[in-house]
Amino acid sequence: MKRKLVSLVLATAMITSSMVAMPVFASDDTATEETADEKKDDAADDTEKPDVDLSDKKVGVCIYQFSDNFMTLFRTELENYLIELGFSKDNITIQDGANDQATQSNQIDAFIADGVDLLIINPVNSSSAESITDKVVAANIPLVYVNREPGEDEEKRWEDNGWNVTYVGCDARQSGTMQGEIIADLGLDTIDKNGNGKVDYIMIEGDPENVDAKYRTEFSVKALEDAGLEVNQLDDQVGNWDQATAQQLVANDLSQFGDDVEVVFCNNDAMALGALQSIEAAGRTVGDNIFLVGVDALSEALDKVEEGKMTGTVFNDHISQSHSAADAAVKYLAGEENEHYIGCDYVKVTTDNVADIKEMTK
Ligand code: GAL
Repeated sequence: MKRKLVSLVLATAMITSSMVAMPVFASDDTATEETADEKKDDAADDTEKPDVDLSDKKVGVCIYQFSDNFMTLFRTELENYLIELGFSKDNITIQDGANDQATQSNQIDAFIADGVDLLIINPVNSSSAESITDKVVAANIPLVYVNREPGEDEEKRWEDNGWNVTYVGCDARQSGTMQGEIIADLGLDTIDKNGNGKVDYIMIEGDPENVDAKYRTEFSVKALEDAGLEVNQLDDQVGNWDQATAQQLVANDLSQFGDDVEVVFCNNDAMALGALQSIEAAGRTVGDNIFLVGVDALSEALDKVEEGKMTGTVFNDHISQSHSAADAAVKYLAGEENEHYIGCDYVKVTTDNVADIKEMTK
């Protein structure tokens, strides 16, 4: 099982998962080895079978957009793991919200009408979570949100009402911090090609409705500042998690700011891959006169990190997140409870550990 590998290898940047109210991430310096008990838990996870017959349970899964690279990794792993747990493939239906909340809301209504036994939802708009929750709870269906956090107020509502609703995801502040640290660790002398004493950067953001974009943007820069570096933002643009959009934005910035662009922060790897296309087209060389970081650890991005064409990325652990989501769902079906926020750690990826991350995600 992939998860076991993950937990054994990730000694690089482990922090406690219960970090929802802890916005300070000193990542690699706080590395902790997995305890014997945790290892035992992992072993137990591999053998324990849920105390409920899942073979006839119907699962509805809503993904905000199938064309999103990271969510494709996520949903593939989720489906495989649900089957591994004992659900029948025929009883798992996964819908593409096509990045349209109205479309997704119709899909949720159809799942409810069809009498599914549980729902796993990656909302198009996190702000729609309240109305989604209300109708799913009214239909008495357990609900697991993934990837796009509905927000603390909404989570409190689930807790206050004792509803079978939870959220599984990582805290994007941690990923932003790790991106900033990857750059800060290079040292100002290496980064500061134009010699102005500052880190001159451009920021390419994901969908602004998504808290991941907000936090990665904010905390990557904060990590530079916390490391004592002076920063200079040349530009901040919205690339909507999309490679082609980012490629265009970075091409524009490189033509406008030229060699002053020292660092390109992208909120995800798809956009970093687009940025790299423009960086290479402009005759610039990552690792030499420009530095580039993303988030997700898509396989293509891991190749680029290995080749030195991306400075680094941050592993957004789709394996652990999808497994935790399925495990939480099964607990609800077995009549058990879950916490209303289930966290997961990101892992910093550079040339130092890229081979390990490739191994565990292949
Ligand atoms: C993020 C991920 C992005 C995109 C987004 C969708 O966690 O890093 O690549 O998939 O989720 O909500």
